[in-house]
Amino acid sequence: MFASSALLAFVLVGVSAASPLAATTFRVHELRPAVPSGFTAVGPAPPQTTLSLRLALAQGDPDGLIDALYRVSDPDSETYGQYLSKEEVESFVAPKSDTVTTVNSWLTENNLTATSLSSAGDWLSVDVPVAKANELFNTNFTLFKHIATGGETVRTLEYSLPGSLQGHVDLVHPTISFPVPVAQSAAALSKRGQAAAPSSPKLAPRDVASACSNGTIPACVQALYNIPLTPAVNKDLQLGVTGFFGNNAHYAWLETFLETYRPDMDPATNFSVVGIDGGSNDQDVPSVSEGELDIQYTVGLATDVNVTYYFIGFDNQDGDLDGFLDEANVLLGLDTPPQVLTTSYGFSESELPFSLVDKVCQAYAQLGARGTTVLYAAGDSGPDCAPDGSDKFEARFPSDCPFVTSVGGTQSFSPEEAWTGSSGGFSNYYARPAYQDTAVSAYLASAGPANAARWNTSGRAFPDIAAKADDIVVFETVFARLQGTSASSPIVASIVALLNDRLASAGRPPMGFLNPWLYKEGWQAFTDVTTGGSEVQCPGDVPVHQINATEGWDPVTGFGTPQFDKLLALLNL
Ligand SMILES: *[C@@H]1O[C@H](CO)[C@@H](O)[C@H](O)[C@H]1NC(C)=O
Ligand SMILES: *[C@@H]1O[C@H](CO)[C@@H](O)[C@H](O)[C@H]1NC(C)=O
Ligand SMILES: *[C@@H]1O[C@H](CO)[C@@H](O)[C@H](O)[C@H]1NC(C)=O
Ligand SMILES: *[C@@H]1O[C@H](CO)[C@@H](O)[C@H](O)[C@H]1NC(C)=O
Ligand SMILES: *[C@@H]1O[C@H](CO)[C@@H](O)[C@H](O)[C@H]1NC(C)=O
Ligand SMILES: *[C@@H]1O[C@H](CO)[C@@H](O)[C@H](O)[C@H]1NC(C)=O
Ligand SMILES: *[C@@H]1O[C@H](CO)[C@@H](O)[C@H](O)[C@H]1NC(C)=O
Repeated sequence: MFASSALLAFVLVGVSAASPLAATTFRVHELRPAVPSGFTAVGPAPPQTTLSLRLALAQGDPDGLIDALYRVSDPDSETYGQYLSKEEVESFVAPKSDTVTTVNSWLTENNLTATSLSSAGDWLSVDVPVAKANELFNTNFTLFKHIATGGETVRTLEYSLPGSLQGHVDLVHPTISFPVPVAQSAAALSKRGQAAAPSSPKLAPRDVASACSNGTIPACVQALYNIPLTPAVNKDLQLGVTGFFGNNAHYAWLETFLETYRPDMDPATNFSVVGIDGGSNDQDVPSVSEGELDIQYTVGLATDVNVTYYFIGFDNQDGDLDGFLDEANVLLGLDTPPQVLTTSYGFSESELPFSLVDKVCQAYAQLGARGTTVLYAAGDSGPDCAPDGSDKFEARFPSDCPFVTSVGGTQSFSPEEAWTGSSGGFSNYYARPAYQDTAVSAYLASAGPANAARWNTSGRAFPDIAAKADDIVVFETVFARLQGTSASSPIVASIVALLNDRLASAGRPPMGFLNPWLYKEGWQAFTDVTTGGSEVQCPGDVPVHQINATEGWDPVTGFGTPQFDKLLALLNL
């Protein structure tokens, strides 16, 4: 659909075949023991309904890709910063030729036409009626209803692969993943009243108390983190911002925001839009804040950096991971993907099957290997509660992915403290990556037993770092004050983009995947947040449960908040 390549040879017009099913040995490939809570089965899916099924083909050398990622991201590696080209990444993730041959034969036997969804050829799409899909994967696609919203979706509780595809197809989607209604998948943003229309500050005061006296505005963030107003000069560098349908960013409101808070900038400073899955940044859609926030705190902080809004539309969207996957595949298909990508959306980890989550996480490893810093808002639900109603905490995707940098939230200033809503914790899906061992072991040794039974502390811990999340002033017909890690991630993305500009001027490669550098040495350029904590009240919690920020890394603010001047010094810039 998006990228074409030699593997478009997958598009086949089949020959008629004798029923291939007679001789087929099926083996159950994925299953869910029960209908997930919140959903109810309505009945068999109508046999003629067309399903757009995605097939993830086994990649040639996925472990090799991860090794290659660390070789370019670990500051002690001889090839640190020597990022891979598109072709080099694809040489690891493209399916092997016997996989291609086998899958092609299966398509032909079944008279199917497939489309390649990724430049590497590891994702295919086939449109088939439910009746045929049931035969192909020995399953019964069923109509399920989401009880709270009434939304209907076709899924199954188990499916099988024919013998010939076993070992060649990693998963078929959508099958056992149950989509979460989209409104809940955005990192929740809550509004705290309306800010008075500010009078234009002439130049950013460098003193935090006065810069932050009217709320978190660009001058406040610049003063807190010593971000310079100096424009970026390397026009070929890009900062990507992810947006999902409904979260349109309004050009006129950005202009008002810049006139008000960046009088030193050209108020016509703009951003580009790349639509994915039919997305278009229509201006007649009312604001739901997220898009305005993400654009105003990138264009408005990363002075003169090329900001591109990757805007995902409604096609193929039912609240599942498809938009995340499609965006990653679009970026991986580019010769030069954006050097920084910030996304303020996510899911509760256990809402999605690991098989699918891991495919998206692995795509972020590919982007890291290409030199992209992939940043995610940690989430706004504190340590969060397990959806099964137990007293366990719950991690969030994609912050649980070891190949992204997760950004938690702070509040207040002088000093900043942990924001009460900041998500953080430990993954049940991913073990702790080696780069986190020292920092996280130190936290666990000092944290005491208060939460020990509620966390799986062997998992990937998040967030990695933090930035302001409270009192964020955004223009959306009025000046509103918002809160959420949805602000923290764009703020950090702006800082990384400005660092990349300085690096490029010095003839050096961009920051890329931050974590191996961050946990080894980068943390020294961050201000440790040691007070405040996140809060949650899960069923059975009396009273509200608090996770405190501590000295050193903690699962609320990570290593703390960035200092641009210290980052420059650490990077010898
Ligand atoms: C194969 O597909 C073509 C095009 O959709 C259709 O005309 C033909 O009848 C199909 N053949 C069989 C055996 O299903
Ligand atoms: C699908 O449903 C039919 C009718 O209820 C049943 O006979 C069949 O075993 C089911 N197939 C699978 C794979 O569950
Ligand atoms: C804060 O608001 C006051 C009153 O509107 C104004 O005089 C001052 O310049 C503002 N300060 C900043 C940093 O925006
Ligand atoms: C920014 O770009 C959009 C889309 O091209 C355009 O409609 C808008 O007028 C531009 N804004 C400014 C301030 O130039
Ligand atoms: C910014 O980057 C996008 C994507 O590469 C490109 O289409 C656009 O022209 C660039 N904008 C500017 C002002 O250079
Ligand atoms: C705890 O995390 C590990 C990964 O570190 C995982 O293998 C294990 O299944 C998790 N335990 C539970 C109960 O989810
Ligand atoms: C967190 O800090 C508060 C205030 O200092 C304290 O009362 C509480 O016991 C701490 N909670 C934990 C789990 O350490």
